[in-house]
Amino acid sequence: MNKLQYGMVGGGPGSFIGDAHRRAINLDGKAQLAAGCFSRTYEKCLETGVELGIDPKRCYADYEEMARNEAGRLDYVVVVTPNVSHYPVCKAFLEAGIHVSCDKPLCLTPEQADELVALAREKDLLFMVTYTYTGHVTAKHIRDFIREGRLGKIRTVMAEYPQGWLAYEGEWGGRQGEWRCDPAQSGGVNCLGDLGTHVENIVSMMTGLKIKRVLAKLDKLVPGRVLDDNDVVLVEYEGGAVGSYWTTQVAIGRDNDLSVRIYGENGSIEWKQTECEKVLIVSRDGTLTERHRGNGGISADAAKYGRLPSGHNEGWLEAMANLYRSFMECISAKAEGFFTPEMIDFQTVEDGAEGVKFVHACLESNNRGNVWVDML
Ligand SMILES: NC(=O)c1ccc[n+]([C@@H]2O[C@H](COP(=O)([O-])OP(=O)(O)OC[C@H]3O[C@@H](n4cnc5c(N)ncnc54)[C@H](O)[C@@H]3O)[C@@H](O)[C@H]2O)c1
Repeated sequence: MNKLQYGMVGGGPGSFIGDAHRRAINLDGKAQLAAGCFSRTYEKCLETGVELGIDPKRCYADYEEMARNEAGRLDYVVVVTPNVSHYPVCKAFLEAGIHVSCDKPLCLTPEQADELVALAREKDLLFMVTYTYTGHVTAKHIRDFIREGRLGKIRTVMAEYPQGWLAYEGEWGGRQGEWRCDPAQSGGVNCLGDLGTHVENIVSMMTGLKIKRVLAKLDKLVPGRVLDDNDVVLVEYEGGAVGSYWTTQVAIGRDNDLSVRIYGENGSIEWKQTECEKVLIVSRDGTLTERHRGNGGISADAAKYGRLPSGHNEGWLEAMANLYRSFMECISAKAEGFFTPEMIDFQTVEDGAEGVKFVHACLESNNRGNVWVDML
């Protein structure tokens, strides 16, 4: 089997998510890292490249040079830099004709998002935005359960993503926190871009609901913060359902506690990423059903991603790997001429653009005194 060849921008020494992407991609052994611009400092880029066994000639000081030189050589690129550079980096690789996987949030403005959507379409390239949590088998099961109409019409959604790592005055959470709290690298928001986009996206993926308008209160609760660290957003969806989202970085004791509760006319569903092997479903008559990944009762389209028997826990890294499984299947299918859009089982550039528009609408709502603002 010829492995797909991929490159990476970001993911240098001491970084977080680049290494997670590499490990997740390695789970299936279908792709090989062949080139990288892992850091803006060439020495650091080379350090990571050598450590990972990359030909030094394919370690680049600058992503534009990498995109030019690697056109026709790479099957896809993974973009895992801080938010401010997602747009120019993705644009450079799309222009070079290379499929793109970029971490969230897609970019900083709706205009940039629209441009990336248009460019990917014009070039006929695949573009995944790695909203990791949507890769969980259980999240896909909820999507399928709701699609089949088993919850009936959805009435309300409550979703939250509390963290506590930026709760401390005078501490900035190391390099990862420093850039997130810096408007020059993070854009107009911190917490909402980092966590709010996950909430917006997973609710959209699970329910299929489209947001009509938002009312947001974005707060800076820790003294010294320039950008938001606690956000509350009321949501109205098309079709009449309503929702409430809370994201924070100041909830001491909470670790990546993304959870979603969905209430429909025939029952409800509860899902927590910290207990991602199970889904709680409550029927209209009050019967509680706990579905476990790996057991019967999980939809076939979700269950096919399972790698281990139930009780041998899968988690966040497998969820990321599941996104790459579909992305790489689509890339291979495109190369071999049998790709169809129905094969896509990952969040796309269009989904990423919705996230950017959600942030934009929330910012406008907050800046205008917490009023209702329509989504673009
Ligand atoms: N999907 C998820 O669950 C998830 C989780 C964490 C982070 N993220 C996203 O991943 C991205 C990176 O976050 P992180 O926490 O890994 O940051 P990080 O600071 O740990 O790593 C960023 C890396 O990018 C490099 N870099 C910066 N600018 C560059 C450039 N122009 N060219 C080449 N390399 C460059 C840095 O040297 C560093 O190695 C962010 O957009 C963040 O929102 C997503």
